[in-house]
Amino acid sequence: MNLEEIRAQFPLLHQKINGYPLVYLDNAASSQKPDSVINCIASYYREINANVHRGIHTLSQEATVKMEQSREKVRDFIGAKSEKEIIFTSGTSHSINLLAHSFGSFIAKGDEIIVSHLEHHSNIVPWQMLCQRTGAILKVIPIDDQGALDMDVFQSLLSSQTKLVAVNHISNALGVINPIQEIIQKAHGVGAKVMIDGAQAVPHLPIDVTGLDVDFYVFSAHKMYGPTGVGILYGKQELLEQMPPFMGGGEMIREVRFEGSTYADLPFKFEPGTPNIAGNIALGAAIDFMNSLGVENIQNHEKKLMAYAKEKLIQIENLTVYALDLDTAGAISFNLNLPGVHPSDLGMILDKQGIAIRTGHHCTQPIMSRLGVLGTARASFCVYNTFEEIDLLVKGIEKAKQLLL
Ligand code: ALA
Repeated sequence: MNLEEIRAQFPLLHQKINGYPLVYLDNAASSQKPDSVINCIASYYREINANVHRGIHTLSQEATVKMEQSREKVRDFIGAKSEKEIIFTSGTSHSINLLAHSFGSFIAKGDEIIVSHLEHHSNIVPWQMLCQRTGAILKVIPIDDQGALDMDVFQSLLSSQTKLVAVNHISNALGVINPIQEIIQKAHGVGAKVMIDGAQAVPHLPIDVTGLDVDFYVFSAHKMYGPTGVGILYGKQELLEQMPPFMGGGEMIREVRFEGSTYADLPFKFEPGTPNIAGNIALGAAIDFMNSLGVENIQNHEKKLMAYAKEKLIQIENLTVYALDLDTAGAISFNLNLPGVHPSDLGMILDKQGIAIRTGHHCTQPIMSRLGVLGTARASFCVYNTFEEIDLLVKGIEKAKQLLL
């Protein structure tokens, strides 16, 4: 890993914030973009902007080819069997809501959906809304004090009533890596389907949806060096074939008559309207970027960063570090134990030193209630982060402590 070469590809990293060189540690919220992704978007609008799947003219055909090439890159990147299994959405939340409506049409009163206590709100609320619509029941896998799922309780929650298990691969708030292989096997044992929210995993680990035998896997482009407003729903072909469309409109149809309409084949059945063409193509550029480094190399570098961050942060007096003994990736959460101090106080003082972290509940209020805190401070890493940046974070926290004492 030549970090200097990698960092040179990210223009935004070279600016100063409040007079200090930027230390960007908010990658779980959104990662920065390499030149290749930025240039891809610009050259799409400069050179081939036209609508896809609609035109006989050259530009439309070029745009279509580029977007479908990107779909193929996604398929290959996550090990799906067919590009029919790759649906472009606007992000992870869109993918989950699509499922909650479309797969949700198979859910009836008394059916059960299992989520975990470790979920982002976007993997709780759509299922709550589905339960309200249908009379289905939402069950929750509890976590221990560190944030590990209680797999014994999970086992006991599973029954023939369970229709879907929806859990994240990696917690956005604590960085905990969940035992998804075991979850998938156990859920399949009772005939339930499984959706994995991979928003925080795809940037950090190699993913093989076929090897995992997962039914649905969802993620966003913008946390993996791609643009905002782009996401993916992977689904097994036979399930997507059975599922009704979520939204109606152009491009998702085969034939429209006032007596009734028929729908397009996969993946277009789930892609009405003009898509985010530039963004979808740029996701392919983000995948090219990750492949150029090697996902396993990215993972190894980030593992070292995470171990170093844990080692340094636990040495700070009056700092609680969460999920310390668990297998984690991408993010580390902590809190200053000083009376009357909120995590955002720490975030603001760090920002004054050019250090960007996220503070608050991280869209995971149930986790915060379980930990008995209002929120945490969270540093999150990706491939361009350095050990020196972690040293600056530690120095920044020490300085904040002096100011807040
Ligand atoms: N889900 C994103 C985060 O954890 C926004 O920050």
